Amino acid sequence: MMSVPLEPLMTTFDIDWVRSQFPALAIKVNGYPAAFFDGPGGTQVPRRVIDAVGGYLAASNANTHGAFATSRRTDEVIAAAHAAMADMLGCDAEEIVFGPNMTTLTLALSRALGRDLKPGDEIVVTKLDHDANVSTWAALEERGCAIRFVDTRPADCTLDMEELRRIVTPRTRVVAVGYASNAVGTINDVEGVVRLAHDVGAMAYIDAVHYAPHGPIDVRRLDCDFLVCSPYKFFGPHSGALYGKREHLLHLRPYKVRPATDSIPGRWETGTQNHEGMAGVTAAVEYLAELGRRHTPEAHGQRAALLAAYDAIRVYERKLLEQLVPALLAIPGLTFYGIREPARFRQRVPTVAVRIAGRSPRELATYLGERGIFTWDGNYYALNLSERLGVEPDGGMLRIGLVHYNTAEEVDRLLAALRELAHRA
Ligand SMILES: Cc1ncc(COP(=O)(O)O)c(C=O)c1O
Repeated sequence: MMSVPLEPLMTTFDIDWVRSQFPALAIKVNGYPAAFFDGPGGTQVPRRVIDAVGGYLAASNANTHGAFATSRRTDEVIAAAHAAMADMLGCDAEEIVFGPNMTTLTLALSRALGRDLKPGDEIVVTKLDHDANVSTWAALEERGCAIRFVDTRPADCTLDMEELRRIVTPRTRVVAVGYASNAVGTINDVEGVVRLAHDVGAMAYIDAVHYAPHGPIDVRRLDCDFLVCSPYKFFGPHSGALYGKREHLLHLRPYKVRPATDSIPGRWETGTQNHEGMAGVTAAVEYLAELGRRHTPEAHGQRAALLAAYDAIRVYERKLLEQLVPALLAIPGLTFYGIREPARFRQRVPTVAVRIAGRSPRELATYLGERGIFTWDGNYYALNLSERLGVEPDGGMLRIGLVHYNTAEEVDRLLAALRELAHRA
């Protein structure tokens, strides 16, 4: 099989160290070691995240801005989490807004933005995206805004960029696009999308939830107006984090209560936040930075270490993908959705979706689950895509999501189980 040269090449990936960090990887199901291919729905967390969450509750638990020790510590925990996410996304700490999850943050942002929109304004969304980046914007139809959809090409599940160029016009106010598809793994040309949006004076809102565990994010280079992700998808606790350009966070009008601060990012962080979750987010970012330093000891500073981690992760995940995809394609009766050619793997993350003739995705996932292999079935809220591919009435697709704690042996186990299923169908 042809494989694409990778730059810059890491010679080793310390998978034993990685796996030793994640207590959940020791779980067994029916005597089988658990193989977590459910990462797109939420990843496992390293020990230090568990310790940080528990440690916060044990020693720092309080509300903010009080004149006593635990409250001061809480203020520090919150500041550290903003700084960690700023390292992760390449921005300033005050440009980071925390919230319960991506969907809630996006609803808050779309509602705030909607206050300044008027009938006739247009918002562009895609048929490839998770519904959290679609319905959240479609809600603004009630303000008279028109929602325009960019199609996805069923043959390889990529966005129709020609159509995007056509429907982004001077009437467009927001272009909302995913960085990578949570269903089929396609990486979109988000830099190109941001440029198109800015050319007509529109804002670009990027959903990086699915991209964040797999690749580095640089919001300054992208020049996006907003970018949102969910730490529980990149080895942290259940929470959401949004980057907003400082001027937007200052000038847009969030729905908020009067006593809450009007400075950023606090004006966007309504109510009491998940402080223990924030402690865990900092620990998740530190875990990734340590992974980076282990592979590139000369990486100085947290941001450089994070970029080094993603270099290592990308190369390792690519190898697993090169093992997985051709073997899936050889299974009789299997339909594969999305980019399949190794020469194009740069355009995708290692999340793949398949169907096997004669078996519903739920049957496949149940069979695998009983053997300790965790996958998702259904549409995973990428509803427009599931409809566009015509699989929604038949239970959607089986999704296999690889992350850097998965192994070649786990991929072999998965493939063997799928072959068995295909032969019995
Ligand atoms: C691509 C993508 N966007 C958005 C979401 C929604 O994220 P959250 O659960 O943080 O609201 C998900 C969750 O699966 C996702 O995969």
